[in-house]
Amino acid sequence: MYSEKEQARLLEETKSLLRFIKDHPIKKLSLEKAKEIVGSLRTVISYHDWRYYVLNDPVISDYEYDQLFRYLRDLEEKFPELISPDSPTRRVASDVTKVFPEVPHLSKMLSLDNAYSADELRDFHRRVVQGIGTEEVEYTCEPKFDGAGIALVYENDLLQRGCTRGDGARGEDITPNIRTIRAIPLRAPLSQFGIHRIEIRGEVLIDKESFRKINQQRLEEGLSPFANPRNAAAGSLRLQDPKEVAKKKLDAFVYQITFAENKKGENLLGTSIQTHWQAMEILKQCGFKVSWGAELCKGIDEVIKFCQEWEQKREEFPYEIDGIVIKVNDIRSQQILGETTHHPRWAIAFKFKAKQATTRLKRVVFQVGRVGTITPVGELEPVEVGGVIISRVSLFNEDFIREKDIRVGDMVLVERAGEVIPYIVKVIKEARTGSEEPIVFPKTCPSCGSRIVRLPEEAAWRCVNMRCPAQLKERLKYFASRRAMDIEGLGERTARVLVMSRLVEDVADIYYLTEEKLLKELPKRMEELGQPRPTFLGELNVRKLLKNIEASKNRPLHRVIYALGIRYVGYATATLLAEMVNSIDELINMPEHKLEQVSGIGPKIAHSIKEFFSLPDNLKVIEKLKKAGVRMAKVEIKGPLAGKVFIFTGALSSMTRDEAKRKVEELGGKTVDAVSRKVTHVVVGENPGSKLRKAQRLGLTIINEEEFLKMIGEK
Ligand code: IVH
Repeated sequence: MYSEKEQARLLEETKSLLRFIKDHPIKKLSLEKAKEIVGSLRTVISYHDWRYYVLNDPVISDYEYDQLFRYLRDLEEKFPELISPDSPTRRVASDVTKVFPEVPHLSKMLSLDNAYSADELRDFHRRVVQGIGTEEVEYTCEPKFDGAGIALVYENDLLQRGCTRGDGARGEDITPNIRTIRAIPLRAPLSQFGIHRIEIRGEVLIDKESFRKINQQRLEEGLSPFANPRNAAAGSLRLQDPKEVAKKKLDAFVYQITFAENKKGENLLGTSIQTHWQAMEILKQCGFKVSWGAELCKGIDEVIKFCQEWEQKREEFPYEIDGIVIKVNDIRSQQILGETTHHPRWAIAFKFKAKQATTRLKRVVFQVGRVGTITPVGELEPVEVGGVIISRVSLFNEDFIREKDIRVGDMVLVERAGEVIPYIVKVIKEARTGSEEPIVFPKTCPSCGSRIVRLPEEAAWRCVNMRCPAQLKERLKYFASRRAMDIEGLGERTARVLVMSRLVEDVADIYYLTEEKLLKELPKRMEELGQPRPTFLGELNVRKLLKNIEASKNRPLHRVIYALGIRYVGYATATLLAEMVNSIDELINMPEHKLEQVSGIGPKIAHSIKEFFSLPDNLKVIEKLKKAGVRMAKVEIKGPLAGKVFIFTGALSSMTRDEAKRKVEELGGKTVDAVSRKVTHVVVGENPGSKLRKAQRLGLTIINEEEFLKMIGEK
């Protein structure tokens, strides 16, 4: 695609553009100059797209790339006359497509015949030999990607159209979505090869990692997850909004030229483009991502060896591969062999062992996750799927079960694709006997027995009980975290042993811990449980921890509200709530409709708050907190140091400078590093520097450490 010399030149150009961008605000650019820069930017950005998306080997940082991209985008905004459809900024169209128009393919999009064994490959070879009349056949072997098939049309080097497979004869025109895929060039120098119009086939796919993320997000949004990366890719490609498509991290490989003609309208396939290998070479040169790992094989024995080797290493790749595609390399031979109505006679797919199997769903159990989500888990009659025995499968949520109409006792088709977690693809309804039973969701939490809730717009049922043992460790860590009660020393390790030893059964219990309990009782209980002694909780650390717990009793109301871990009540919302009320009780008793009226708090949050406070266990914890002396005082959100500006010079003895700054900011004050008339207080510690002299010259207020501590309420 790019020669080494050219790449060196493009890198030089990149550097000089970056320098230019730094020194030239867009405001001051003439149209003339802008025109020149726009062209140059497009060239280098397309080059970096290719390095990144096709080769997976970028040569500039993301930051530098963004500088180039933004400058181009801003230039086009200022000079709309410079916009062109192949600009890298034009990948994502803003308009939402209502329906995808149907269009005929330039040549029919066929399927592939399948082979499941070496013998079937030999049968295929025999048919090929018979068809072309020679024993010497050269094949190409390449991975068969499991994604969604696409057909791309380029004319005059520009991407004109991208379609789905559809029914093979006609597909859906999804060009706006195709344009968002960076592995697909918007402009490709095909004319260099005498190609004027071309149709290229390929596959759009999602790597296993992105697949996992998409499913995670879908679950969070209350949608059913996709069964495999193929469905995820196909689903994403057909999204109505190209902006959404662009977020999905779609990738694309191309694997066939099905149509190519020159300016005169002459067919190039079988004439100037003689082999499939050569066709792939051309596409590679033009900046497309062609299947990696492809090989030329002489005779069917080499093909069989290739297939067997790849079946061994199929899991090593970031993409799902479900077989090997074997093609007769010579295009004339392909033309002689021709095709059936269903598949070409010159190609076959060697399919790897299926990663699907059918088995019976024996039972459904319900698990409580770390944050209270109740997940139904199916217990299966153990079955082998793609070399692994599986006996459990997640059923995700109630909607998933209902959508698929899954019942206990059903025969189900399970698939293990894209990741290790198996998935129920469908129920084999034909196998039903009538004895299958509907799955009944529990009304209470399987861990603590508390009533469970399903919040509006959520797919999951959850337990919102602060005392639920399944969630306690997470709740405790959250309660103690920086923005919540800020208890240093109460992290993962400590939370784990406190919960395990049952010294802590809800977050309020920490205020009832003593040296005695932590130093004597804790090690004893851990030993009884067969667990190692918590050596990290020695005398010194225990004292520190207790001191920090004690100090946390002074945290203001908004932080306490945040620390309770009410779903959807983040720091900002907690602050809003604390501003509205005078005490926690007022919040507890506030009717839902009143909560909803607060700007920034919708029905979803209001409902969540109500559900939380309607649980007797949660109220019990709040009572316990109060009794322990957690003040939950409502400090003015403005803070006592509001309007004051501090500067520090010299070392403080009671805390580091960063801690001091944080304290000031927490109390609503500001800190600066340079002396100016804006400074209201100069805090002087040991060995002050030149700042002190300057402050004196300006006549600013100077205080010592003790006075500072008084101001922040620590003395
Ligand atoms: S060549 C006439 N090569 O598999 C079809 N197809 O099951 C020639 N596929 O529709 C297709 N990887 O969507 C070819 N390396 C590859 C492929 C591949 C995946 C898909 C393609 C095709 C389907 C057939």
